[in-house]
This record gives sequence, structure tokens and C-alpha cells, in this order.
Amino acid sequence: MGLNEIAWDDYKDLGLYEKGKFLIDGNHVEHALIAQQFGRKELDYLGELATKIRFIAKTREGMDFLNSQLPHKRAMLYFTQPSTRTFLSFFAACQILGLRIGNVRDTATSSEFKGETQEDSVRSFSSYYDLIVMRTKKKGLAERMAWVLANSERPIPIINAGSGQDQHPTQALLDIYTLQRSFEGIGGIDGKTVMFVGDLARGRTVRSLAGLLTNYAGVKLLFVAPEQLQISDEILKLLDDADVSYEITSEFEERIPEANAIYMTRIQDEWDAHKGESAKVDTTKFCFKAEHLDVLKKDAVLMHPLPRRNEISTDVDHDPRAVYWRQMRNGMWIRTALIANIFAVDKSILNYENQS
Ligand code: NCD
Repeated sequence: MGLNEIAWDDYKDLGLYEKGKFLIDGNHVEHALIAQQFGRKELDYLGELATKIRFIAKTREGMDFLNSQLPHKRAMLYFTQPSTRTFLSFFAACQILGLRIGNVRDTATSSEFKGETQEDSVRSFSSYYDLIVMRTKKKGLAERMAWVLANSERPIPIINAGSGQDQHPTQALLDIYTLQRSFEGIGGIDGKTVMFVGDLARGRTVRSLAGLLTNYAGVKLLFVAPEQLQISDEILKLLDDADVSYEITSEFEERIPEANAIYMTRIQDEWDAHKGESAKVDTTKFCFKAEHLDVLKKDAVLMHPLPRRNEISTDVDHDPRAVYWRQMRNGMWIRTALIANIFAVDKSILNYENQS
């Protein structure tokens, strides 16, 4: 089933898992738009592919091989919201596979400035490019554009690199890949306790990762935040439906010893309805400090999608359990894996050894 087989009005009202069926065909991702389109099978597969790519990339010959996969394809990075890591890791992922890259980051330099709609802009990109990676403030725009293009003469894939407060599926993929790697020797993600801390109400990374964790048996989620910034009922409903156990609390320090992974986030004050309203919330006790390392499990990991402000003190960075820099690099590998899968060069990559 593809997006060209359903009317927009029918698609947009579907549940997230139902939508997912229109975005993946067997093992092949057609568009990466929402976290819920990825099941356990896809997560395991993309993780395996990312690891293979990571190893191949260690040698000059391997890098030449990866570079030769997609030199005939072009990608447009359309990022109208600020971004450092997501933009650069997609840029690097495209470079690894040899894709040529174009980008628009500032609408003041594009025809949107002249009043063109974002829909028309994206449609224009599809005339010149074979893939669009987009980050926008507008919830649902990536989905809408994937549908519009699927029903046009240029049905090219779209990757959602962050849409409003709603979804950040590729961040969730890199977070899962980081957890897979971190828990490799200790039974994997199943049965682990993952603690989310910070602005859980408006952080799209938390929403998407919580969605993906429903794929693992016996996980427990702890949502730790001041009351005003707690996780939304919509996510809790999703967890209830998937039978995932969770707890909501404003105790941080006391709960650290229980966690196998702690996922810190910053206050998302760019979404304040009234300027300065976030500053009135007392977040001082939701910061991970050096003294907390003493009570953190020996094999636990401390994560952050970054950018950080003061939620993790820099004197924690040296601890091997602080994995946020590695987590960031994982983003490049899993995004390379995703693009390889979208353009169906994944089998050739997995067979690499056989060719040399
Ligand atoms: C996140 C985002 O943009 O949602 N950043 C990222 O992509 N790594 C998190 C954030 O901005 O706080």
C-alpha cells in the first residue's frame, strides 16, 4: 500500500500505526515520516545495517565503495527551523553514499519570501531532486507533502527531520540505535527502565522515542518533569494501548538509581505561548550533576538529543556512561542506513565482504 492509494482525507484521520502501513513496503521504507511506522523488525534491521556501514567506513576502500552507491541521486535538505546535528548528519550521510546535496535553510533566500506556500516550494524541489529531507515548524507538513508528491508525476521520498512539537522519527531511530549498542552485552533494550527528564510536554524527541520503545518487551518508562512540562495524555494513551508500563513523577534525584537509561532534554521555550513563561517554571532540580554519577547504575547510559543548556553539567562529560556525543555520531550512521534502504542499496552494502 502506498500513499497514492488513499485519499488525503482518509489518510490524515488514520491512527499512527495504521498510517505506518502506507509508508513501508515489506522491509523497504518509502518515506520516513512518523516514529510509529517502524516496528521491531525494521529497528533491528536498520541497526544492523548502520553497524555494517560503520565498519565498512573504517577503510579507504570501504569508503570508496559506500561513495559509489548513490552518485546518480540528489538530495534536498530543506530546513526552515534551526538545526546543527540533524542537518549536518544528514548532509554527511548523503556524502557517505555519494549523493549530491542541495539545501535551503533560510526562507529569506527562497521564493517563500515572495509569498510562495511551503507546499509549492516542496513541490518545486521535487523537480530537481530525488529525495527531500525536511524540518519545519508545521506539524504534519512532511506527511502532507509526501502524499502530494506520491500523487504527482514526481513521487520522490520524503524524510521528516523534525515537524513542530510532534515528531522527530530519525532522532528516535538514532536514540534506539544508541540504546541497542549500549545494551548489547546486557540483554538489549527489552526489560530496561528508561527515564525521560525535562520538557516532556513540548519535546518531539521524547514523543517519538517513547513511541518506538513500545516495540520492546517489559520496558518501563519514567517521566520526570515539573508538572507544567509533563508528558501529554496523548502519549500516555499510546503507551496504555501498547501495554507499556510507565510512571509520572517530579522526583528526579531519588529515581536515578532505577534507570538503565536517562534521557535529558532542554526546556523548549521557543514554543512559549507567552514570552518568558518557561522561565517561571523552576527546573533547577532537573539537572544531572557530577554527584549523581555516584548513584547512577554502573552499566546505565546518560543521553541527550542536544543542544543542551544546563541540564547536564559539563563535568559529567568525561564519564563513560555519558554517551551523548556517541549518540550524535550514531545519528550519521543510522541516517546513512535509512537513506541506503530508501534507495534500495542496502542489500549491496550488507553483501560488501563478498565483493572484495
Ligand atoms: C532536537 C530537536 O530539534 O527537536 N534537536 C535535535 O534534533 N537533536 C532537540 C531540541 O532542539 O531540544
